[in-house]
Amino acid sequence: MTDLLPKPAVKPARPFFSSGPCAKPPGWSPSKLALGSLGRSHRSKLARARLAHAIALTRHVLRVPVDHRIAIVPASDTGAVEMALWGLLGPKPVTLLAWESFGEGWVTDAVKQLKLEATVLRADYGQLPDLDAVDPASDVVFTWNGTTSGVRVPNGDWIADDRAGLTICDATSAAFATDLPWDKIDVATYSWQKVLGGEGGHGMLILGPRAVERLEGHVPAWPMPKIFRLTKSGALIEGVFKGETINTPSMLAVEDYIWALEWAELQGGLAALIARADANAAALSDWVGRTGWIAHLAADPATRSNTSLCLKFAGDAAKLDEAGQRALAKRIEELLELEGAAYDVAGYRDAPPGLRVWCGATVDTDDIEALGPWLDWAFHEAIQGQD
Ligand SMILES: Cc1ncc(COP(=O)(O)O)c(C=O)c1O
Repeated sequence: MTDLLPKPAVKPARPFFSSGPCAKPPGWSPSKLALGSLGRSHRSKLARARLAHAIALTRHVLRVPVDHRIAIVPASDTGAVEMALWGLLGPKPVTLLAWESFGEGWVTDAVKQLKLEATVLRADYGQLPDLDAVDPASDVVFTWNGTTSGVRVPNGDWIADDRAGLTICDATSAAFATDLPWDKIDVATYSWQKVLGGEGGHGMLILGPRAVERLEGHVPAWPMPKIFRLTKSGALIEGVFKGETINTPSMLAVEDYIWALEWAELQGGLAALIARADANAAALSDWVGRTGWIAHLAADPATRSNTSLCLKFAGDAAKLDEAGQRALAKRIEELLELEGAAYDVAGYRDAPPGLRVWCGATVDTDDIEALGPWLDWAFHEAIQGQD
């Protein structure tokens, strides 16, 4: 079908392109982490100070306003989203937006588990639902950046300033890569393992004043496990937002997150992180533009993610059936891993077959530029096997 290509001379220096856990920041090493809080009680003065420091740095880097509270919670981004859904939904109509696997997961929670009569606005992989169809009288649950399709909302302009409902935003692939409009966001969540290349296990829950008001004035109709409870006797448990975590955190993961936040500050903060992700995404898009066998899954460049770039096959490769395309993507991934040239570049299991390359701030643009020729090489090797 196609000729083999010679192996490219230069490999990405750091071949880490996974969409989660994502590449560690450049220069990271376990030996650089502060370990004084390990082996100590997480309620000790020292550990609480480190947890509070992680929260303060988060606020500074993400420019979270003072009236929004920030908590470190269990179970990564999923835990943070579940806490928000279980604790807040119920009193108002709910609109859920889903255009890829994770958004669809939150639909399942609200509709099948909480049994809410929700309005679900869906779109196929590669597209966004009609954001103007969102009723501002309802609570709205959405993913800012759909990691498995590479489609993100272009901005927050579709969210009404005078909304009656709450906006609950899964921002896990967007935080630290987008200037999130905090006045439009009542709840945001993310996990450390994404744009800052931290560890899994803990999530961040950011609550605006309207979300706190809801929490304090509403008793969910369903049981609330201890791990989800943010109020006691109708009042917010303020300690959770000062580093007094609900249960025991991994202080090693906390120290790793602090290191990544300090790295982010040294780069120049949020603007620098966004610029790094944008440069990486542009470098990958340049290669896509020059390459006949691959195309972006996100149809509209205005809704294209700058972190998880999802690619579909084009040309003759797109004529293979779905199983053939999945096998092709897997083979490309395997070949690149064997060469140590790139790890974890196959698309998500529930997404259309193709490739996915993480372009967040912890990836270096030189490595994205070096990746393109290797993807070409692996494609030409792998497609031979499909003939
Ligand atoms: C948009 C989105 N939401 C939620 C999750 C789940 O994150 P975690 O495994 O950190 O709970 C992911 C993970 O990739 C994601 O991309």
